[in-house]
Amino acid sequence: MGGLDPRAGEAASSARRPSGFSNLVLHLHPRVVPAASLRLSRTFGLGGAALVLFLLLAATGALLLVSYEPSPERAYGTVAALVDEVHFGAFVRNAHHWAANGLVLVVFLHLLRVFYRGGHLPPRRGNWLVGLALLLLVVASAFTGYLLPWDQLAYWAVTISTGMLQYVPLAGGVLLRAARGGPDIGPATLARFFVLHVAILPLAMLLLLAFHFWLVRKVGGVVLPDGAGDAASPRGSLVPTSPALTQREGVAALVVTATVLLVAAVADAPLLAEANPGMSPNPAKAPWYFMGVQELLVHLHPLFAAVIVPALALALLAALPSLAGGAKTTGRWFESRRGARSAIGAAVAGAVLAAGAILVDEPLRRAPPWLPALAPAIRGGLLPVLAAAAAVAAVALLARRRGASRLEAVQAAFTFVLAAFAVLTVTGVLFRGQAMALAWPWSPRS
Ligand code: HEM
Repeated sequence: MGGLDPRAGEAASSARRPSGFSNLVLHLHPRVVPAASLRLSRTFGLGGAALVLFLLLAATGALLLVSYEPSPERAYGTVAALVDEVHFGAFVRNAHHWAANGLVLVVFLHLLRVFYRGGHLPPRRGNWLVGLALLLLVVASAFTGYLLPWDQLAYWAVTISTGMLQYVPLAGGVLLRAARGGPDIGPATLARFFVLHVAILPLAMLLLLAFHFWLVRKVGGVVLPDGAGDAASPRGSLVPTSPALTQREGVAALVVTATVLLVAAVADAPLLAEANPGMSPNPAKAPWYFMGVQELLVHLHPLFAAVIVPALALALLAALPSLAGGAKTTGRWFESRRGARSAIGAAVAGAVLAAGAILVDEPLRRAPPWLPALAPAIRGGLLPVLAAAAAVAAVALLARRRGASRLEAVQAAFTFVLAAFAVLTVTGVLFRGQAMALAWPWSPRS
């Protein structure tokens, strides 16, 4: 994504005239882009990689649709037949599976790149919010796809994840029924997940992506460091988009595609036994991107773990541009060395505190309740969440006292939360065994 630089016309006259396919690609870009925006470390190509993964998902998804049937009686059989009997059937399914997981990861890394480079600040604040909506759509797409094979993994992961909705005050029951199409997971759930997965969510994503890219162009391209280029031209020298940018994009697209296909060739997407509503696996886990929340459920009152904390996290993400108090970004990673040091300290503190809290709470949650006079929602929800909020505020204040700018202090506080969430997710994915007790990853599971 390049920029609408006022000097674009001048430099454009020296740009090579595009044709054919590159003409189509160039509709996304201006004719010339700042040379500084081409460095790999500027964006790591993560937004572009996300787009390639989205396109790979559309292509492999269309192939999967040839044989898939969205009914509880036929779904598992059609997937098993595709894997066992169709030439390259397993390969296409694997590619779809790994591209979907890759997209969740890459979009999240893209969010981090944007944030730590200050790309979320004005004039890009609106695009940050569009990006957040895209993140929700990506997670919703991955999650709705999870149910479609109708195996034990799918059935119970979706049972657990949708079950979290019941904790929403007042509307919980209605939301749960709306998500499942009834009180339990069944044909209505599969039908609505299928329509969301193959039509509504991809279409919404396509529209939002077009808007996202347009907004990138509208503000003049990706955020660049102050002082890029010479003093007279702060955005540095301009180069023709074709071939300078298009060639890089082509190579990056090939690398992403080759990586997905390679992984698909060596690692199979899981397919357990057919869904059995009468027999839950132990432990029954949500998909990895929800495991941080499931780990919270082990420790906190469900209202806080499944509703209030995720809502606060989303609100925090949306508020990040405003919390910086109108700061201008330098466009550098973490703004400065001091910012980077604050963020590293915050990451270590967040990880150590989260790990410590998990270990301390493990025996406590089985013991008789402490402060028995207090309601469980206060004892096991409000108090720990207030303590965590105080820790986040303390990290920001400490960073400020050590000379960090307001933006750097917000980055440190966010990093603290991020590191804690990462520890929760890794614990949930790797270190929870039967009955969600702590266990080594290599200890026997059900
Ligand atoms: C499927 C999802 C997404 C795709 C395909 C995508 C794609 C892109 C691309 C291609 C760019 C330009 C260059 C680059 O950074 O690589 C970009 C920029 C941007 N994206 Fe995304 N994005 C997605 C999701 C998100 C999310 C989740 C956020 C944050 C919440 C976000 C926020 C932004 C912002 C603020 C910019 C401008 C950054 C700057 O100017 O440096 N995007 N995106």
